[in-house]
Amino acid sequence: MTLRAVDLRCEHLAEPRGLNDGQPRFSWALEGEGRDRRQTGYRIVVGADAAAVAAGRGALWDSGRVASSETLLIPYAGERLASDQCVHWSVQVWDESAAASPMSETARLWTGLAASDWKAKWITRYWVHPDGLQPPANTPYDNPWRARPADYYRHEFDVAQRPVRATLYVTALGVYEVRVNGRRVGDEHLAPGWTDYHTRVEYQLHDVTDLVHGGSNVLAAIVGEGWYCGRIGMTSQKAGAHYGGRPVLLAQLHLEFADGTVTVAATDERWKTSHEAIVYSDLLMGEKYDARLEQSGWDLPGFDDGAWQRVELWDAVPSAPRLDASRLQPIRKLHELQARYLKTLGSGEMVFDVGQNIAGHVGLTVRARSGDVFTLRHVEMLTPEGEPYTDNLGEAAQKDIYIANGIGVEVYEPRFTYHGFRFVAIAGPAGCGPDDIGVVGVAVHSDTPVAGDFECGNAMVNQLFSNIVWSQRDNFMSVPTDCPQRNERLGWLADVQVFLRTAGYNMDVAAFITKWMVDVADTATEGGFADVAPSKPVFATLPVPPRGAPGWGDAAIIVPWLIYLRYGDREILERHYASLVRWMDLIERHNPDYLRKNYIHRNYGDWLSIGPATPRAVVNTAYWGHVADLMTRIAGVLGRRTDRARFEATFRAIRQAFQSAFVDAEGRISGDTQTAYLLALDFGLVEGELADKAARHLVRTIDEAGGRLQTGFLGVKHLCPVLSEIGAGKHAYALLLEDTYPSWGFSIRHGATTIWERWDGWTQERGFQSPKMNSFNHYAYGSVGEWLFSRVAGIDCCEEQPGFRKVLMRPLFHPDLGWCRASYRSHTGKISSHWTFRGDEIDWTVRIPANCTADVVIPAGYKVRRVDDASAVRPSRFELGSGKYTLTLCLDFTGH
Ligand code: BGC
Repeated sequence: MTLRAVDLRCEHLAEPRGLNDGQPRFSWALEGEGRDRRQTGYRIVVGADAAAVAAGRGALWDSGRVASSETLLIPYAGERLASDQCVHWSVQVWDESAAASPMSETARLWTGLAASDWKAKWITRYWVHPDGLQPPANTPYDNPWRARPADYYRHEFDVAQRPVRATLYVTALGVYEVRVNGRRVGDEHLAPGWTDYHTRVEYQLHDVTDLVHGGSNVLAAIVGEGWYCGRIGMTSQKAGAHYGGRPVLLAQLHLEFADGTVTVAATDERWKTSHEAIVYSDLLMGEKYDARLEQSGWDLPGFDDGAWQRVELWDAVPSAPRLDASRLQPIRKLHELQARYLKTLGSGEMVFDVGQNIAGHVGLTVRARSGDVFTLRHVEMLTPEGEPYTDNLGEAAQKDIYIANGIGVEVYEPRFTYHGFRFVAIAGPAGCGPDDIGVVGVAVHSDTPVAGDFECGNAMVNQLFSNIVWSQRDNFMSVPTDCPQRNERLGWLADVQVFLRTAGYNMDVAAFITKWMVDVADTATEGGFADVAPSKPVFATLPVPPRGAPGWGDAAIIVPWLIYLRYGDREILERHYASLVRWMDLIERHNPDYLRKNYIHRNYGDWLSIGPATPRAVVNTAYWGHVADLMTRIAGVLGRRTDRARFEATFRAIRQAFQSAFVDAEGRISGDTQTAYLLALDFGLVEGELADKAARHLVRTIDEAGGRLQTGFLGVKHLCPVLSEIGAGKHAYALLLEDTYPSWGFSIRHGATTIWERWDGWTQERGFQSPKMNSFNHYAYGSVGEWLFSRVAGIDCCEEQPGFRKVLMRPLFHPDLGWCRASYRSHTGKISSHWTFRGDEIDWTVRIPANCTADVVIPAGYKVRRVDDASAVRPSRFELGSGKYTLTLCLDFTGH
């Protein structure tokens, strides 16, 4: 069987809708039966004609056969790609015996619109908040937080004949839904997503060929405030308008006819606008929808829009943001969970449980009279008395209101808000009972493709894995947020860097994080990176702005490095390199003695740790050492030899200073905390004998804490990996399997379906933690997920051949788990590992993708007895080529 190229990706996406660079990069994975399969050559074919490309003819580019084993991120080198083009591509590969594959299935990509091809004008609606509390007649304004009614836009235009191709380019400052002739375009939710709107906004591209016809057509849109001018971040309820005062829309429809001519319909002063049924919408507060205000046919040709206002043109001040093609998968509605009725409260509200803490909204089905009001309050938890627990939501109201039209069965889902919740309390009209309404939980998140799967013989660990995945889903909402429920929901940098290795196993986050790194770069000033990306303009005016804290600002270096390791993408390092060097310069300039005590801004330390606190100077200096070490490697990858030598020297100087200031001859580190030892060991700040001593102290601190963890956001990620590295794998498993406070298992024993922000978010003794900061859906402590894949299952990447060209297979078997089965779809192909205890023996089946090799490390105490059915002697570390193997292992009493 020949090798086959599958899973075609361009710029980390299955189908990019617009390019921001004229030289897109192509990648594929390989499949092929048997063992030791290798690619010895490839050929990429690109053209506008799908059938020709499928047949191996590329009018734009035919790379010809290139002798190479590369499959990742190969740059386009054909004819210049024009704006507004859809092109197809396909790959042919040659295997180890020079046998050629057929052409792969074709994939598409859109080039998008060049800046100079935008003709559309930004449009907006004049609407002022009425003064006082009484809204003028017919004005649907009635909320204390002064959220605007959504803006409805329409434009009718004639087309002489049916186009052969219709492509819509659209975006908003706000959040929008777009429609052509009454039909919703695409399935994106909360588009265009969040960026620093002062700098850039992403546009979306849709093929609407099937929706446009000859004659009269209508292009229409609904626009809400969203991140642009609604309430975001740690905001008070009335403080919206962080980027601008009112939402604006930009749309451009390209119609190509059979004779090759192209006409454009775009937003301009001729468009009309009105408000309609969305009385207001806000990401944090909720949405109110009055179905009686629907204007039937508003988005169809022939609608009488005489009563609608003319739009205003938006004079961008000082200038309009840059229009970038979308770099990541859109937010979509991805899971539906049937809710279970729990009880009716004294207030008359009916409480439903969707069974899982999600981010999203409720799909409500009612049969009601015109004017009947349904109010939905969303919470993560119930109080011990079974009441909705709202204290931890801060100022986020998370409340939706639906007013029925009385037309029979009505289905309502809010458009421009999302809530973090498991329980919903619904107040309906008098006489409405739980059987009269349908309630489903709709989980929404950025549609990053599922990459990993993990299961083992321990139910609690499986629930932990599920909780980690759900916290990732619930917080990957265009940007990686800290939490989905309270008035925060910000892209805190440290949370991302500690969780990124885990996130990358669960889902393909290459595109998502590449885009977010652009947000991070957009926060950079002369003073370094912000702690939150996208940054919020008002932050800049705070006395101590959240900017450049150790572990937070440093994420700007850690994150691209982790993306490079996982996906082999060197360009992300190159693109951000200059600003990373600047960041290193700044820290060094302020800390000439190589202890990081200055320029530490908000200095959060090992955030939310419990037990003894790790001295901040230890944490900060350790992190500086870590990023100096990473910069050494990054400069090495990029071939910058002088920088490499410089950062290596910086790292040595920091290590020296760290040891002299914080480590005694017995390897005891200032603070004597788990996190102090974890960071020093993992970041290479203690070596040789000193490292052995520090390792013993680490184990001691865990023993002294009764075998419990005490780590905060920064320390927790290193716990199980470092314990495994120093030969204390048993301690790592003990922490994993613990279910008394504090542990991951503790939250699970108390019903958690997501990862809590705090170890003590709720305890028997104290009940709920301080409501000021007590999210039940924060992924940082879920960073143990990377260890489930990398050490429990034993699937990891290697620095020497990044992108999983070489797989490090290094499991740690444990009888209490019994078995473990995991798979990971890397960009090079699918890897799997499955081990089972059978009496004294372990069967371990691994699959290594074609064109890849595995560096297999047998854990101490075991040896290989058989490979497949034949007895075999293997050293404790050996290499395997691609294919499926079953190794049988037994205890090794000789010990290695
Ligand atoms: C956020 C954290 C964040 C921290 C910074 C909190 O409010 O929820 O996730 O990293 O602030 O200290």
